[in-house]
Amino acid sequence: MGEEIDRGRRQLLTAATTITGAVGVAFAAAPFLASWKPSARAKALGAPVEIDISKLDPGAMLKIVWRGKPVYVVRRTPGMIESLASIEDRLSDPRSDISRQPEYAKNEQRARNPEYFVVLGVCTHLSCAPQNRFGPGASEDGVLSADWPGGFFCPCHGSKFDVAGRVFKGVPAPTNLEIPPYVFIDKQRILIGVDEVRVG
Ligand code: FES
Repeated sequence: MGEEIDRGRRQLLTAATTITGAVGVAFAAAPFLASWKPSARAKALGAPVEIDISKLDPGAMLKIVWRGKPVYVVRRTPGMIESLASIEDRLSDPRSDISRQPEYAKNEQRARNPEYFVVLGVCTHLSCAPQNRFGPGASEDGVLSADWPGGFFCPCHGSKFDVAGRVFKGVPAPTNLEIPPYVFIDKQRILIGVDEVRVG
């Protein structure tokens, strides 16, 4: 089994090395990129998915599907990032101690880069897709009160999460939204599904 994994990993790394050589791009200092495009079948089986974030405006969110699940990428504004520090006492797991995320996302922003938030769009209660409700304050539909700081709202049973996917106290969801593995390929692209791709 271990040998199979090692062989697979070697093949992946070889492929990445080959592509790198062909492209000839110098990203040596960064956790490395593989600019390959998986087939539709490979994507369905869980291959990493590349996201272009070059046109994502501050305060906006885009969605993609990885392993059949929605993944949200939010470009947070400075105000959204600042809001994270002021609401910890309203959260069930502010330090993400009982929630699921890679080690590099176990911080206040739950991200590699505070500006870009990558999260599974799957409520930790019963797996509905939370909606983005980034605007602070009371909502017109009455489900969010005046002290709402902005975040995600799950319409199924009313769970609420901040803009780092941290769950508020008193809602059915038991833990923060899950963070998938991901890596920045460069300033404009994120690869979902892997923590890093090493070369050599
Ligand atoms: S599935 Fe989200 S609150 Fe129940």
